Amino acid sequence: PVPLVTFNNGVRIPQLGLGVWQASDEDTERAVRFAIDEAGYRHIDTARIYGNEAAVGKGLRESSVPRDEIFVTTKLWNADQGYDSTLAAFDASLERLGLDYIDLYLIHWPLGNTERFLETWRAFEVIAKSGRARAIGVANNKPHHLQTLLDHGTIAPAINQIELHPHLPQYLTRAFDDDHGIVTQSWSPLGGSDRAGWGPASKPNTLLHDSLLTEIGEAHGKTAAQVMIRWHLQNGLVVIPKSVHEERIRQNIDVFDFELTGEEFERIASLDTGQRVGKDPDEFV
Ligand code: A2P
Repeated sequence: PVPLVTFNNGVRIPQLGLGVWQASDEDTERAVRFAIDEAGYRHIDTARIYGNEAAVGKGLRESSVPRDEIFVTTKLWNADQGYDSTLAAFDASLERLGLDYIDLYLIHWPLGNTERFLETWRAFEVIAKSGRARAIGVANNKPHHLQTLLDHGTIAPAINQIELHPHLPQYLTRAFDDDHGIVTQSWSPLGGSDRAGWGPASKPNTLLHDSLLTEIGEAHGKTAAQVMIRWHLQNGLVVIPKSVHEERIRQNIDVFDFELTGEEFERIASLDTGQRVGKDPDEFV
């Protein structure tokens, strides 16, 4: 059983979910159904820009678990920011998902244009009040972006989903989130995919083959991926590892029968290089 984390509005999110970035429609549909029916996941994280909302919806409907037992997140793409365009984009996401509400709606990236960012948030507040998103939040926010929303908004973000893994532990943003009752969620929690053309790195994932993580895993009969997922969970973070492979989907939720020690935590802290795999939010406008 996956623990739940409670938002500032009382809504609860399963601490571990399935990510589907860069997964094709076919893989997404299959992975979502498998994760729910065969592996016990109850939380799926997609986005408009992933292009697979419809496939997520199909996978949800093929599963045997009722809609209200699954936590579904999607995200507003940058081009749709602004008050009216956000409302229209939200309707379109619901339509593609085939749902009449979602559990969490996120602004995918902050904008350099503060006025437009705030208009977007105003539309998010309207969506939250309508009940069609049970909670609203942001992704890729630094403390200064969050401060703007806290200063000018009427609803505080429930969550901040940021790039976070042992190379990028994000201590400052996590401290800000904690101080303001905002849950922190980790994307690319395993260090991301071996992708091309994204971020400064565009390099193979090294964390999955890291010798320290592998060694710690061996001591527990677990893989480096499972050690990282455990690290997120024990840090109180919400985590959404992505995989389209059944064996890995199962493996990534099979992390509730061991615990990392304080000493292992200290050793993992040495992996902090500050190296992002994605973009710096301040350069993404
Ligand atoms: P795949 O879908 O082919 O399994 P992230 O850090 O963004 O969650 O990315 C994880 C990447 O690592 C994905 O590209 C995924 O690819 C792969 N992956 C996910 N789980 C595991 C695992 N348990 N072992 C090895 N690779 C994994």
